[in-house]
Amino acid sequence: MSDTLFDFTLEEAKSRHGELSRIIERANESYYQKDQPEISDAQYDNYFQELQKIEKEFPDLVTPDSPTQKVGAAPSKGFKKIKHAVPMLSLGNVFSEDELEDFITRVRKFLRVEKAEKIELTAEPKIDGLSCSLRYEGGELIYAVTRGDGYEGEDITQNVKTISDIPQKITGQVPDILEVRGEVYMRRSGFIELNKNQEAQGKQVFANPRNAAAGSLRQLDSKITALRPLHFFGYALGEVSAPVAQTQWEIHQRIKEWGFSEASPVALCSHIDDIMAYYNEVTQLRPDLDYEIDGVVYKVNDLSLQERLGFVSRAPRWATAHKFPAEKAVSIIKDIDIQVGRTGVLTPVARLEPVTVGGVVVSNATLHNADEIERKDVRIGDHVVVQRAGDVIPQVVEVVKERRQAGFQPFPFPQTCPVCESKVIREEGEVAWRCTGGLVCSAQAVERLKHFVSRLAFDIEGLGAKIIEDFWQEGLIKNPVDIFRLEEKDKNSLTPLRARSGWGEQSARNLFQAIEKSKTISFNRFIYALGIRQVGEATAKRLASFYKDLPTLRGSMVQAQDPEGEAYQDLISIEDIGPAVADDLIGFFVEEHNQEILDGIEKYVHIETYEQPQNAGSPISKKVVIFTGTLEQMTRAEAKAKAENLGAKVSGSVSKKTDYVIAGKDAGSKLKKAKELGVKVLSEDEWLELIRT
Ligand code: IVH
Repeated sequence: MSDTLFDFTLEEAKSRHGELSRIIERANESYYQKDQPEISDAQYDNYFQELQKIEKEFPDLVTPDSPTQKVGAAPSKGFKKIKHAVPMLSLGNVFSEDELEDFITRVRKFLRVEKAEKIELTAEPKIDGLSCSLRYEGGELIYAVTRGDGYEGEDITQNVKTISDIPQKITGQVPDILEVRGEVYMRRSGFIELNKNQEAQGKQVFANPRNAAAGSLRQLDSKITALRPLHFFGYALGEVSAPVAQTQWEIHQRIKEWGFSEASPVALCSHIDDIMAYYNEVTQLRPDLDYEIDGVVYKVNDLSLQERLGFVSRAPRWATAHKFPAEKAVSIIKDIDIQVGRTGVLTPVARLEPVTVGGVVVSNATLHNADEIERKDVRIGDHVVVQRAGDVIPQVVEVVKERRQAGFQPFPFPQTCPVCESKVIREEGEVAWRCTGGLVCSAQAVERLKHFVSRLAFDIEGLGAKIIEDFWQEGLIKNPVDIFRLEEKDKNSLTPLRARSGWGEQSARNLFQAIEKSKTISFNRFIYALGIRQVGEATAKRLASFYKDLPTLRGSMVQAQDPEGEAYQDLISIEDIGPAVADDLIGFFVEEHNQEILDGIEKYVHIETYEQPQNAGSPISKKVVIFTGTLEQMTRAEAKAKAENLGAKVSGSVSKKTDYVIAGKDAGSKLKKAKELGVKVLSEDEWLELIRT
């Protein structure tokens, strides 16, 4: 261990880590892309070793995009982006038999399937790798894309072509357009071998097979990828020009016939006991498998049922992951820090003696909130059980009370914000303490900026957390508008970016290009980027779909201050928007400072008007519909999902803007109101007739 590093505080380590990362990335860029090394190999190795030492000392700084986790540079303009023809979604989770039962009940309820009737599910291992979509046209591999944000991923075709178990050509019975989806992964044996070689050559070692696979796949130079032992398992289809199967089981057969490998075992289950038996069997097999899995996946077998079930937000209703229990270890709490989030929430974080949990070194764990600290009676110095599951932030589960020493004091939760010293308050019914500093609190400002540029928001590559923090400190970026003025300001600056330590001509240009590219953004992403409390991705989409553009949204929010008025009624008629969310939204848009920022952003950014994603030609596209009473042929949830898929807006309360009220059995006040307002009323049969055409 280096003696100098030992004295680094976390802040100093972070700062040096960022600096070294930029120097190394720049060196990689000049070496790999321009074939013109700017520094000597020895210098490079020195920097690299220093970075490794810091990461050894402060394991939390090892992020997937640290230069130690990838060799070579990302391509100069980033990988090309490709839109997915069919979105690549994620999966919901269950962690217990009870939750699994709830999942099955939800599926049954949605489909209105009686208890006596069977619903078949396929069961298969959940591989811990990186998902990838392979597109074939006329049997030829055309391109390969990462999942990205689910709607758009990165073009990794060249790298994927080096993976030997991915066929480049599919022969036999194959539809003209075919997308096979699955997981790129590294076997444990390959990973151990790779790390041995890396170590022998003085290069970085990877933390686990998944990181190694990620680092290998994100290589600019596919010659390097070719040397990495990557593999692929297929498990799903994307766009397909002709039907190839009627069940998930048959999909698995086709995928194998086309020459792909599949993880095994795959089973067909129709009773919870079979499913649990499968889960237990795979749990037993897990330690002996040569690849890492983090659970199993269940999918409704019948594809026509899958279609009826559809999606909610980012996950299908017809599938779920059954995750393995979290891994646990014991460590000591060295300190408790308070982090201040984007919306001012104070989150206590335990700084731990580094400990390996499930193959990853953990030195921080969340303590959630003040109540949790009190409930678990966590004190500095305590031995605690720490757990980690998948990508979830490690948590402190409990204190090992027998090991507590006399003199350990209860933790005094701060009464003021540790960053801006404003008072902290706790609203009624909430567990979280919040800093009241709002716009003056620098922690909140920095977190808001990080959110603004994050992947599902403006998605500005190269403007990572560290850089945002640095730029904020220097006063270069104090609010979102400054991001879009950065290049302009830089031109007139005495210390332009390119002349700063860790930056160069190319990296500065890349950043400006990424910012330029982000200046066209969809309306839903834009709303999400604003980081309004309680407005996540799904709510942002609903707002975008309802208001269509920013001027309309802004105008409506100002009008909605009157809770008796129509604008307010419209707002709370949107699904999942109740009075509390409405308050946060209105509060945000009427706030003067926020209005200035919005005006500023509008000068630089083109916000696209929201387009209903599908079915513009459907008879109910853009119509506002309301379901009331009991439907007989499908559940309310299914009817609603179907209407939304066809481009309708499903609302909760009848107004003059309602196009159709679909009245089931025993419809009451909404039907009455519809008649009063002269809104068209349809019976369930008439409705089904309308959407059939
Ligand atoms: S199916 C629409 N099957 O898990 C459903 N996913 O946590 C698509 N994964 O994004 C996914 N093994 O990357 C499916 N056998 C399997 C899987 C699997 C691993 C990954 C996949 C997905 C993630 C969700």
